[in-house]
Amino acid sequence: MRRLLAALVATALTLAGTGTAAHATPEPGGAGIGDPYFPQYGNGGYDVSHYDIRLRYTPATDLLTGTTTILATATQDLSSFHLDFLLDVSSVRVNNRPATFARQGDHELVVTPARPITDDGAMTVVVQYSGVPSEKVDAGLGYSAWIRTPDGAMAVGQPEIAWWWFPSNDHPADKATFDVSVAVPNGVSAISNGDMPNFGPVPETLGYSRWSWRSLKPQAPYLAFVTIGKYDLSLDTTANGQPIWNAYSKLLPQATRNEAQASIERTAEITDWESTLFGPWPFEARGGVVAPPGTLGFALENQTRPNYSSAFWFSGSNTSVVVHENAHQWFGDSVSLSRWQDIWLNEGFATYAEWLWSEKNHEGTTQDLFDYLYATNPPNAPIWTAAPAAPGVANLFGPAVYDRGAMALHQLRLAVGDDDFFRILRTWAAEHRYGNATTVQFTRLAEKVSGRDLDALFRAWLYTPSKPALTTMAKRAPQAPKSWAQISRTHELLHEN
Ligand code: TRP
Ligand code: ZN
Repeated sequence: MRRLLAALVATALTLAGTGTAAHATPEPGGAGIGDPYFPQYGNGGYDVSHYDIRLRYTPATDLLTGTTTILATATQDLSSFHLDFLLDVSSVRVNNRPATFARQGDHELVVTPARPITDDGAMTVVVQYSGVPSEKVDAGLGYSAWIRTPDGAMAVGQPEIAWWWFPSNDHPADKATFDVSVAVPNGVSAISNGDMPNFGPVPETLGYSRWSWRSLKPQAPYLAFVTIGKYDLSLDTTANGQPIWNAYSKLLPQATRNEAQASIERTAEITDWESTLFGPWPFEARGGVVAPPGTLGFALENQTRPNYSSAFWFSGSNTSVVVHENAHQWFGDSVSLSRWQDIWLNEGFATYAEWLWSEKNHEGTTQDLFDYLYATNPPNAPIWTAAPAAPGVANLFGPAVYDRGAMALHQLRLAVGDDDFFRILRTWAAEHRYGNATTVQFTRLAEKVSGRDLDALFRAWLYTPSKPALTTMAKRAPQAPKSWAQISRTHELLHEN
């Protein structure tokens, strides 16, 4: 609306002959959004507000066909623009006119509209496509991130996954709302983010039914997911009336199913507890999805509804992973990265939430967990040889980001005290809700709330690739906290050690 008013005023000025702004010559939009770690990820020159993804999928052949409609606004005069996408495109229309398109490299589609788009101009982009996603290997990565399962498929991954199922501006810096609708054979489920207003599939012809999901809050493209297969899907309601959609693969062994249910059915309780620490739950729905055995190898914090590997259930319940993935809903999903380098803002915070859960359950305090990691990691351990806030692409999901990231938060807490520490976390989640932020914005906020100079602390704990000294002498090697077995095995699956 603000943009529309600006455009009307600009038009009025031009008509009155008083405008000075002769339009610049339209130029191509950039192939990347400007991420130093991933220069090709995302694109330049426009800003997406909504994706409407309408697909049909056949598990037997892995054939995905469909149409994605993108609503966007140009941020410059555009002669052409890029989309991030790998499947075979049959047509592109921009603002109701056929556009030409060409592939550049592996995952870039260059679209040239029939008419240039003016700065602040609305763009409606309709892309029709089809393909077998598991066969589309990105040369740069060397694999397909699309996961085939015995009874379907999963589009669940990080940072690269969107390319295999919808065209996008694939970077967390450009968030948008989503409608995801997938037709699958009768008896097969298609699960995605947010809520399902129809409460179930709508029958189509030829033995297919259509599952339609809606995400009302801005979402990064990598957090959009679709999980297809034979699932037991249930709808429950939180105390404040939000839908909880949980889905368990029918292929899970009964014991695993029991352990997974004993963990994931506690999602409302866990997220309500997290909201006492981090502020109100940011989204309109909740839930969890558990994949068939031997398929997904990790968990991912998909917005409103994480996907979990069945491997998290190795002996009894595992609530650590539920705490971790749902903490990401505040840290990563609602407050999103501006650049991938700052990934500790997601993983360090979600790991610290696990420590807080351990403390709440009397299975080891956050201090116990800090002491244990400090004592058991010698100076040459990977936790110290990379810096959480500048880990390098190779260590993006390494222990320096997860464990040392959590240790950095613990040091901050010791320095500023509990009141200011939790005020910092809540203010962070509130000030950047549904937006993006950087490490520097976090460290500035911490200094502002606490009124302290925290330069030395952050330099040692976030920016220096070596083991920081402790001001208080570490005691003799402490015992492993009770929660350690579950937390460490969870982290073996979550990150690269
Ligand atoms: N972000 C996920 C978590 O900590 C873990 C993860 C790291 C991941 N790399 C991934 C998940 C790649 C899927 C794909 O919860
Ligand atoms: Zn995580």
